[in-house]
Amino acid sequence: MPTLLAIEVSPRLDYSTSRKLTGEFIEKWKLEHPGGSVIIRDLIKTHLPFVDLPWIGGAFTPPEQHTPELAAAIKVSDDLIAELKSADQIVIGTPMYNFSIPAILKAYIDQVVRVGITFTMDYEGLLTDKKATVIVTSGSDFAPGTKYESFNVASGYLRQILGLIGITNVDVVLAGRALTVDYGEKTMEEFVGQFAHALSLAAQA
Ligand SMILES: Cc1cc2nc3c(=O)[nH]c(=O)nc-3n(C[C@H](O)[C@H](O)[C@H](O)COP(=O)(O)O)c2cc1C
Repeated sequence: MPTLLAIEVSPRLDYSTSRKLTGEFIEKWKLEHPGGSVIIRDLIKTHLPFVDLPWIGGAFTPPEQHTPELAAAIKVSDDLIAELKSADQIVIGTPMYNFSIPAILKAYIDQVVRVGITFTMDYEGLLTDKKATVIVTSGSDFAPGTKYESFNVASGYLRQILGLIGITNVDVVLAGRALTVDYGEKTMEEFVGQFAHALSLAAQA
């Protein structure tokens, strides 16, 4: 039975448009994959240290030479990579921050992108058996053909970094104009409804 890993990023919890869209995706995925299991990796509730000197020491020292300190320094990374490896599909639901991704998501990426473990020195990805869906919500609209399309570095970066670790089958759902919900111009349901078809297609694959 397939496993879906859902990575939640927004600190806005109940008010979050990306969490709502990710929730919709999960429901659709469950219908498409009866009996499948879902792991929620909520980055807001995860201890995510930044890369520091002991981490680098641990990541670049062969495991058989690890001191207890080095092993401890990359335990979070080891655990998050094990979780990622256990999944057949991944969905990342994230807000756009400053045209890019929130720092907390970058901190997660820094933990799971590890040379020799998830990619090789020759940029060969080692997690090749997975598919991902990336949902990016934003205040402005960055859909293809829109005026500010090129300002969006969030989805391109996520596609690139997932590709580095071998996940090249990636659907991107750009959910712009999310502030219409905060401004009361649209209900959350109306906003989410606009992307129902794209989410359904992504969940089918
Ligand atoms: C710190 C911060 C930076 C943001 N930067 C951008 C941005 O560069 N472009 C944009 O269109 N929206 C930006 N926004 C708006 C969010 O992307 C938008 O409100 C999004 O829907 C929030 O997702 P959430 O509802 O899941 O929290 C920013 C919001 C915050 C809080």
